[in-house]
Amino acid sequence: MRAVIFDLDGVVVDTAKYHYLAWRKLAAELGFVFDEANNERLKGVSRMTSLEIVLETGKIQNLSMEEKIALADRKNGYYLDMVSTIDESEILPGIPAFLERLRAEGYKIALGSASKSGGMILKKLGLMPFFDAVVDGNLVERAKPDPQVFTKAAEMLGVPCKDCVVIEDSAAGIAAAAAGGMKSVGIGSSEILGNADIVVPDTAELPALDLPK
Ligand code: BG6
Ligand code: MG
Repeated sequence: MRAVIFDLDGVVVDTAKYHYLAWRKLAAELGFVFDEANNERLKGVSRMTSLEIVLETGKIQNLSMEEKIALADRKNGYYLDMVSTIDESEILPGIPAFLERLRAEGYKIALGSASKSGGMILKKLGLMPFFDAVVDGNLVERAKPDPQVFTKAAEMLGVPCKDCVVIEDSAAGIAAAAAGGMKSVGIGSSEILGNADIVVPDTAELPALDLPK
């Protein structure tokens, strides 16, 4: 039995842009510009680690834990507003056909997302019936590049890690897959995702892709 474990943001759906826009809005309120080059470092990492990176970019120091939690909550509020009307029209190209193919070929399918909103978004997209296991940020203590989100998914599926392929758009996620002894497919630029077994420029390539063995 083999399995495919999907990251969510930037792989199944284009929510990576909403995370970015929400952090950008928070940064503007704090008085600095948060640009797309810096945003690359936020992909795949947890909300609080993302906040640390954003604050570092704006050279904001010495905040109390309470202040940090309030800022992370504020960003999450903006993000939740932005995704409140999300629907299947924002599923990325090729994902429905790829899921159908995996199901037809007998693969187990799981979500392995750092986002605490991961399960909720999958439901809104109507994709829940495809997934045999859903692991999101509510179920793990350690964030990517730690492999916990993926190893937990493999455990729930009952598939050995070496028989799992992770689909990821972040460097942190590709590192997590390798740390968990899994194969990976990177979605995006090979400059950023060079450690993946295969890199494709976008999700439209997935339905016809030979998965790494
Ligand atoms: C990841 C995103 O999937 O989830 C990150 O790539 C995001 O950008 C992280 O920060 C945590 O998401 P959330 O919804 O729990 O703040
Ligand atoms: Mg992602």
